[in-house]
Amino acid sequence: MDYKQAIAESLAGCGISENEIKELIIIPPDKQMGDYCLPCFKFAKLLRKSPSDIAGSLAKCMHSSEVFCKAEAASGYLNFFIDRNFLVKNTVDEILSSDNYGASNQGGGKTVCIDYSSINIAKPFHIGHLSTTVIGGALYRIYKYMGYNAVGINHLGDWGTQFGKLICAYRLWSSKEQILSGGIKEMLRIYVKFHEEAEKDKSLDDEARRQFKLIEDSDEEALSVFNLFKEITLKEVDKVYRRLNIEFDSYNGESFYNDKTAAVVKELEDKNLIKKSDGAYVVDLDKFDMPPCLILKADKATLYATRDIAAAIYRKNTYDFYKCLYVVAYQQNLHFKQLFKVIELMGYDWAKDLEHVAFGMVSLEDIGSLSTRRGNVIFLEDVLDKCAQKALEIITVKNPQLENKEQTAEIIGCGAVIFSALINNRIKDIVFNYDRVLSFEGETGPYLQYTCVRANSVLNKAKGFTCGISCESLSEIEFELCKLLGGFKEVLKDVIRHNEPSFLTRRLIEIAKCFNKFYFECKILSEKDNIKNRRLIITAATLKTLKIGLKLLGIKIPDSM
Ligand code: ARG
Repeated sequence: MDYKQAIAESLAGCGISENEIKELIIIPPDKQMGDYCLPCFKFAKLLRKSPSDIAGSLAKCMHSSEVFCKAEAASGYLNFFIDRNFLVKNTVDEILSSDNYGASNQGGGKTVCIDYSSINIAKPFHIGHLSTTVIGGALYRIYKYMGYNAVGINHLGDWGTQFGKLICAYRLWSSKEQILSGGIKEMLRIYVKFHEEAEKDKSLDDEARRQFKLIEDSDEEALSVFNLFKEITLKEVDKVYRRLNIEFDSYNGESFYNDKTAAVVKELEDKNLIKKSDGAYVVDLDKFDMPPCLILKADKATLYATRDIAAAIYRKNTYDFYKCLYVVAYQQNLHFKQLFKVIELMGYDWAKDLEHVAFGMVSLEDIGSLSTRRGNVIFLEDVLDKCAQKALEIITVKNPQLENKEQTAEIIGCGAVIFSALINNRIKDIVFNYDRVLSFEGETGPYLQYTCVRANSVLNKAKGFTCGISCESLSEIEFELCKLLGGFKEVLKDVIRHNEPSFLTRRLIEIAKCFNKFYFECKILSEKDNIKNRRLIITAATLKTLKIGLKLLGIKIPDSM
């Protein structure tokens, strides 16, 4: 049911277009004022009347409908009250009769490229990658759910002089066996050692440069070591991706664009956009109040931005995207502003379709107590392990009888971590605290999971219900709950409009809180038949909506906990 549409239809013939009405409708901050509200200030000029007169006459000319029980004019606003019985019946019917409640074809198959996670080879997959990975993963699934063709891209950081250093360090202090068994931690060890040793012995840097040149020139031996680093890194991060339910369609990273940057440089030259500055080659962005965008170093080596320009052009040519999103920390705001500007200056009108989906930093509150801290990095895998471990301790106390404790703890622990990165507005910095994210109460992943388990157990105890719904003695809380469920579709649209998965997370929390209130305030199983039946139906609709929402966020639900 599209209530905005119903409002617009009920006002047909009153002199204002449907679209205009739909765009202006808001949800009043105070529910006493109504379920929806049309501010009439904008029509004053058009209709040459005061907003309060307009609201008054609209209230009179409104057609009666089964959807609304009344409309009231109040100081320039027209407030609509949805018929409660209608809303409850309509919402639960819609939810229970479909397999993919809230899904739509608004995307019409248009392609959206989403660049997320985009980890760096031979570097730790650390807590700083949590947000890009789970925000990107959630957007990927939600875009698909809304009828877009989403392309998930892991733009690997697999190019740069550091790989010369790594190969040099590998030859001096490591071996294939050590890399195979030690993985990223071994790569990190020799990388750190390289920097220490290079302080004392300057010739190491020359050797690193020579090694990187060998990779650039596709020297077989150098490439085989480089590929080993890549293979081992991907294998290791894949374990984390699986725990976080993350998938990609492409792993084309920076090195993939190595043979595509020369054409970019040529194009920039042909379009007179490039100039020499202090030996390097740059696109001057002075006019746009930005520092120059670096394209080539003095030795003609390409830079991060060069490869990103090549990647954007490649993606446009390959996928003909409608939008291309970059889920990257706000620290890179300037980089993306420069990148988008350069692409615009190159004359590509699709520069407007590129969007930086920025997010804040994640830090750990109890960092002092973290035994897994190595150097200055906190491995995401360690955070997941610790959360699963703590979840296991909680279950052992709360529900010692539970079967599959380990498996359940893994689902709870990972769910808690995913949730923590999706609950706040993405631009906010997050301070991660183990006890807080694992709490079974409050705004947490385990709270949502627990609510599903609870709803499920009510339904199991009841052993079924019939389809017909009676609205006899419908309580306020049942209506409120159904209203939240009914708004789920709008929330998904808002997620896409703002690339903000936290809208969905918030809604799930609101639903869960409302359901738990309903659970404690209303008798369900001990009620007389028609009321019990309705409450079971509402419980089933709630569970179904929560399940869909959690799946879109990448959070699994245990059978019991
Ligand atoms: N690898 C980069 C980093 O970890 C992020 C890359 C983001 N994507 C892009 N197309 N620049 O900082």
